[in-house]
Amino acid sequence: MIESIHSLYKKKYNILLKNTQQIEKIRHASQVAAKILNLLCREAKAGVTTHYLDILSRELHKMFKATPAPLGYGNPPFPASICTSLNDVICHGIPNDRPLQDGDIINIDVTSIVDGYYGDLSRTLIIGNGSSDAYRVVQASYESLKTAINICKPGAKLSQIGFQIQSVANSLGCSVVHQFVGHGIGCQFHEEPAIYHYANRPRQEIIMQPGMTFTIEPMINLGSSEAIIDKEDHWTARTIDGQLSAQFEHTLLITPTGHEILTLIEPEDADETVPELFIRK
Ligand code: MF3
Ligand code: CO
Ligand code: CO
Repeated sequence: MIESIHSLYKKKYNILLKNTQQIEKIRHASQVAAKILNLLCREAKAGVTTHYLDILSRELHKMFKATPAPLGYGNPPFPASICTSLNDVICHGIPNDRPLQDGDIINIDVTSIVDGYYGDLSRTLIIGNGSSDAYRVVQASYESLKTAINICKPGAKLSQIGFQIQSVANSLGCSVVHQFVGHGIGCQFHEEPAIYHYANRPRQEIIMQPGMTFTIEPMINLGSSEAIIDKEDHWTARTIDGQLSAQFEHTLLITPTGHEILTLIEPEDADETVPELFIRK
């Protein structure tokens, strides 16, 4: 019976439902990525460059016997081991030599490969004293991810994710980026299905099944939802109006009874210096 659902999802949607052994490996890679992100977040403060965070990420990946998935990924090859997306950068920001400044918001996105399996998460930090707009967009992104995660269980439709995210974001006066999506993950970096972050009823009638592993990673803007990709580096995606953008991401597993957030750190490992709203003084 289970075998036939696995082959149905593969045939019909090209979605790979994972078995117990694969889940164990993906959980491990996800925990490594989460530990690395926590350590990077401790170092992210005013005066530190995102280039330094990239160097540190490369060292940490070595320590954990992991490979950073972004490095060399895509075409043109992504040039760093993490994405660092500052202020009006929506996603895929490339680390550089500009020191972080008081009032910046920065998303750090870590994807780690361990033993061939992938885990992917990101978090937005407020450096020092953020504006009320900075708090609002960071909160909208964080709360929309939490709300979307909460509806994930066998039998739920993928389309409910986008509906939840859009409701939360709009209620805080923010918009949802359409041009980038969450994704299946685990055996590859980006697998089927695409996970839409906006209300998309006709597009995603797919039903969640135990063994599905995917990311949810809402990119939320203060102003226009439109993204523009940098003409020179072909990666950096910015808001069209220069206003702030924030993002949080987790890797999820659908379990027989609900879901497991694979990239959530267990309390004993948690970095207590990173509070709920991720302010770095
Ligand atoms: N980690 C990103 C995601 O959440 C993808 C980054 S692609 C890269 O899907 F090449 F920019 F690293
Ligand atoms: Co990511
Ligand atoms: Co992702």
